[in-house]
Amino acid sequence: TETRIKHIACIGAGYVGGPTMAVIAQKCPDIKVTVVDISRERIAEWNDSNLDNLPIYEPGLKEVVAEARGRNLFFCTDVEGAIREADMIFISVNTPTKTYGVGKGMAADLKYVELCARQIANVATGNKIVVEKSTLPVRTAQSIRTILDAESNGLQFQVLSNPEFLAEGTAVSDLLNPDRVLIGGSEEEGGQAAVRALVEIYARWVDRSKILTTNIWSSELSKLTANAFLAQRVSSINAISALCEKSGADVDEIARAIGMDSRIGPKFLKASVGFGGSCFQKDILNLVYIARSYGLTEVADYWEQVISMNDYQKRRFAENIVNRLFNTVSGKKIAIMGWAFKKDTNDTRESAAIYVADYLLNEQAELWVYDPKVKAERVYADLDYLNTRGEDENRKLVKVVRDPYEAMQGAHAVAVLTEWDEFKAYDWQRVYDDMKKPAFLFDGRNILDRNKVKALGFEFEAIGYRS
Ligand code: NAD
Ligand code: UGA
Repeated sequence: TETRIKHIACIGAGYVGGPTMAVIAQKCPDIKVTVVDISRERIAEWNDSNLDNLPIYEPGLKEVVAEARGRNLFFCTDVEGAIREADMIFISVNTPTKTYGVGKGMAADLKYVELCARQIANVATGNKIVVEKSTLPVRTAQSIRTILDAESNGLQFQVLSNPEFLAEGTAVSDLLNPDRVLIGGSEEEGGQAAVRALVEIYARWVDRSKILTTNIWSSELSKLTANAFLAQRVSSINAISALCEKSGADVDEIARAIGMDSRIGPKFLKASVGFGGSCFQKDILNLVYIARSYGLTEVADYWEQVISMNDYQKRRFAENIVNRLFNTVSGKKIAIMGWAFKKDTNDTRESAAIYVADYLLNEQAELWVYDPKVKAERVYADLDYLNTRGEDENRKLVKVVRDPYEAMQGAHAVAVLTEWDEFKAYDWQRVYDDMKKPAFLFDGRNILDRNKVKALGFEFEAIGYRS
């Protein structure tokens, strides 16, 4: 007797829970999918009749939500009700780096995940399959299982690991066309039946050859490993970028040359001002912490370097701006073009822009920020969160504007920090004419046409390339 899932609940309506469940609901119209969150505001935004007000911007997301919402996709704050009704419950809550106690600054904070497990155990009145969608340290399923069993009152719970590999900015296409779907479960028959139930959901739109089933620990650890490898590629090419700036080699040419080796491959070799996003740093720190807790010092040190290199890259970029501007940016207007951690998202978590801005503010620069998708409150909240200076001072020194040309007008320097496509299409002649001279242009993403902007008269600098 195979379990057929009729009701899904997802706890956490964030960047992962929202789009993932929207796609499941779109592809499985016969399954009722309820996404719950403790944040009333977030749920209200998911329910907004104006689809431009969804809490997350992702290309194609509006259309998927429009199709499924109200049909078999629901967003609400009734966590307990959704748990009671569901046969399968995804946990998609945040797992930030711990900010207190043992493992502070390194380990994943699992308090939200544990709360979910306890809540599921407390309100469940029937058997449930609990799916870890959040990124979790290896062996977390064991803890979840223990909590569920201890509080279960004789109910049967299965715990699966089903990590999410979507990248922001391409979430919907990644969900529709994943490289693979990974499902880990226990080897007992109950565990395998739960695995099959989840496989059947994905198989509605994903080729079965791409649905991988493994033991639960491999599944958990594969997610941390994938992010560590991806981030390592960025740090590796960024390390070479510093060498290029000294030697006269060109990092984009190198990326092309090595990427054509099929063993290396061309993707994820774009040198930049540094990787950002909510997960790379958090997940590597977590991996490092786990390795250290098993006494694997060399393993921990090895992966930690990926983060050090990234910090170096952000700092190097900011230092270079100050150096080139005659060693002082005090009182100088600098335009920060792009605040999101990558293009096509409004997410700014751990964005390199935050750290570059903070560095320049310490040097008393006056920053004008433009990003096509990020709101002013977000920019200020990101800076306030660092606690480097008072909130009033951040508002005094930083202006956030809706017009890119206003951000750059009269500036001593322009720094491109996100690779938004629209930046390439700007009238750079007009920008140049309106700037203070010499007009400095720092391309932290290597997206501008070097020869063109240099011909306009800019003092131009890009990553991994000597002007
Ligand atoms: P997020 O912060 O956008 O969303 C998490 C949501 O969970 C929040 O809205 C929060 O209010 C809610 N929440 C927390 N505790 C709750 C509770 N007890 N009950 C109900 N709701 C609760 O986070 P995210 O970016 O969606 O990430 C979620 C997980 O997925 C993390 O573990 C992350 O590492 C992983 N992940 C993220 C991405 C990504 O691109 N952002 C990709 C793959 C995996
Ligand atoms: C990343 C992974 O790509 C996803 O597979 C994973 O699911 C996700 O983390 C997660 O676990 O949260 P994401 O952070 O959304 O996705 O975006 P990426 O495209 O990986 O970019 C991360 C950062 O690296 C960005 O700041 C990006 O600009 C930077 N990057 C990426 C580079 O600087 N160079 C590159 O070549 C690629």
